[in-house]
Amino acid sequence: MPAPSDSDFVFGRHEPASHVIIHVSDPHFLADGVRLGGRYDVEENFARTLEAIRAVHPHPSAIVITGDLTDLGEPDAYRRLRLAVEPVAEELGTVIVWVAGNHDDRPALREGLLDLPPTQDPVTGVWDLDGLRLVALDTSVPGWHHGDLDAGQLSWLAEVLSEPAPHGTLLAMHHPPLPSHLPLFDILELRHQDELAEIIRDTDVRGILAGHLHYSSHGTFAGVPVSVSSATCYTMNVARPAADVNGMDAAQAFQIVHVRPDTITHTVVPVTDAPTGDHFSAAWLEKMALLSPDERLEAFSRKR
Ligand SMILES: [Fe+2]
Ligand SMILES: [Fe+2]
Repeated sequence: MPAPSDSDFVFGRHEPASHVIIHVSDPHFLADGVRLGGRYDVEENFARTLEAIRAVHPHPSAIVITGDLTDLGEPDAYRRLRLAVEPVAEELGTVIVWVAGNHDDRPALREGLLDLPPTQDPVTGVWDLDGLRLVALDTSVPGWHHGDLDAGQLSWLAEVLSEPAPHGTLLAMHHPPLPSHLPLFDILELRHQDELAEIIRDTDVRGILAGHLHYSSHGTFAGVPVSVSSATCYTMNVARPAADVNGMDAAQAFQIVHVRPDTITHTVVPVTDAPTGDHFSAAWLEKMALLSPDERLEAFSRKR
């Protein structure tokens, strides 16, 4: 008997995902692998994240890293990050989408990660992932921590979106077009949001992937779902009162984006070593695949 394929495990009303995307954010690498703030081992935390990404099945079409790739924009930090990510991307047969954040340095990023001349031009790009279009925007502002999109980048985006893609478009950007409940974070937020909303409304944009906040957050912007992936370096302890929120070396996470014909889901994956049960084993799945729909309902839904 042939081994069950992925489609044998589709029991519900939704069609299978056409694309799987890994969404990671804010690694904040430093030269010589030193700890961020003398405290956070960002390389170790990122290595654990990559280990978790390697286990995701099916393999992703892209690994999107939504900015603050480095903490200070040092060339050695980009070199170290590239050395960490490229072998994993190669193993998984996937592309890497590097997105610039406010902690990045455009010239060093361009030279260190993209083998491009070290200019201050925005780091943007368009990928065709088997019909799903991914557009990277650069919301960084050289010399500042707040975000912005200048007229040139906005008109470029409008031009890109003028033709729809078969599976629609995802935007990747560092500063999310969402509010934060934390005091003073609005100083660092994205400017020209009205202009961005004008451009993406009524286009084929189906989702916006962002970072910057160091905690998971979700909302809508111009009718489009926005998903902020938490950071891999350190995260904000948002269980505290807003005025008291600070960083902690815990709860690092990334997200799996499942793009389906009718919807897109963003699943937060905590990077943790917690002991995990084995009830849903491969053998159990194979047994379920051999049952009729009624038998599956009986086996899995019936209360005992
Ligand atoms: Fe960050
Ligand atoms: Fe940031």
